[in-house]
Amino acid sequence: MSFLPKPHGGKLIQAIDPNYDFSNIEKEIKIDAIALSDLELIGVGLFSPLTGFLGKNDYESVVERMRLANNTIWSIPVTLPVSYETAEQLIVGEQFKLVFNNEVYGVIIVSEWYQPDLTKEALHVYKTDELTHPGVKRLFERGPVYVAGEVVLVKRPEKGVFGDVWFEPKETRALFEAKGWKTVVGFQTRNPIHRAHEYIQKAALETVDGLFVNPLVGETKSDDIPADVRLESYRVLLEKYYPKERVQLGVYPAAMRYAGPREAIFHAIARKNFGCTHFIVGRDHAGVGNYYGTYDAQYIFGEFTEEELGIKPLFFEHSFYCTKCDGMASDKTCPHGKEDRIILSGTKVREMLRSGTLPPSTFSRKEVVQVLIEGLKNRVTV
Ligand code: ADX
Repeated sequence: MSFLPKPHGGKLIQAIDPNYDFSNIEKEIKIDAIALSDLELIGVGLFSPLTGFLGKNDYESVVERMRLANNTIWSIPVTLPVSYETAEQLIVGEQFKLVFNNEVYGVIIVSEWYQPDLTKEALHVYKTDELTHPGVKRLFERGPVYVAGEVVLVKRPEKGVFGDVWFEPKETRALFEAKGWKTVVGFQTRNPIHRAHEYIQKAALETVDGLFVNPLVGETKSDDIPADVRLESYRVLLEKYYPKERVQLGVYPAAMRYAGPREAIFHAIARKNFGCTHFIVGRDHAGVGNYYGTYDAQYIFGEFTEEELGIKPLFFEHSFYCTKCDGMASDKTCPHGKEDRIILSGTKVREMLRSGTLPPSTFSRKEVVQVLIEGLKNRVTV
């Protein structure tokens, strides 16, 4: 008997067939890196219960009420945008190859296509239509027509340096079971793991059997630290400071949406599909700039019952090192003032790393800092 939660919607979708014969399909749709990642994650069941890109009914239902048309909770539209020229060639019921960089990765059976109201999508999903928001900017850049239909993943994208930490949900579920974990907490991050992250991860681990460190390595904005550099820092940190038998590293290969509260729900559902029973939500989860309140991504969980969501969120307040406490603490546990707290913004840390200045060890472990400084040398993106 498994203690792990059932996949979202009841069953793990497996829309993957490397032997799928697409030799008779002539027409194709060119897809971008985000659609390729979405295609793969639908294929391996990380986005269960989705079996394809959303049709109009589901799309509108997700945008307006965070549910698929059949009422299943779903907070972020997973759609396939195309140009008007591509849309003109579409035929309902026909198969189209999904092509990225001249390689066929999947097939879609087109069920419909429609023109989305992007401003409405932006306002509901991102809570803003400002183009300075990276998720909104991408939304408007990606194409005016959405194609819907079931997909088959026919080829897996190369995993590169992520090969040994890229697991499908069915694999993570087997791993957790083999370790005998009945409760597993998932941790999302798009950053290097700093002391505050480590603090909340370990606080969570005190109450469950296992920790699944699950950094996002899909598309991020250009000034986030590149995923390959981050991966190296995770490996070093886990090796030195985490108990092997209680911690599993595995990547979350989805694109970052920066949709704050809505994305926190989306993140939780994907981690449930991986087999996690719990999910960490700290301060400004999946946020960017000042678009969301510090704890909005926690409040949104109040809109659903835990039973329906099927994974338990673990909330953490803003954490930091306090010089008077002489240790890690949070707004909830520290009585001291701002002047005693070591708090650095992401921008400030990137500036320090770029100039070779070491952030203090009270903010980030020195082994992590060393890997980051080394890895960021000669990179133009930071
Ligand atoms: S995110 O976009 O992936 O959410 P980040 O990597 O900064 O960004 O955060 C990873 C997780 O740690 C999120 O759940 C976030 O809320 C939480 N978190 C980040 N920094 C802190 C902090 N100082 N205190 C408490 N929680 C934090």
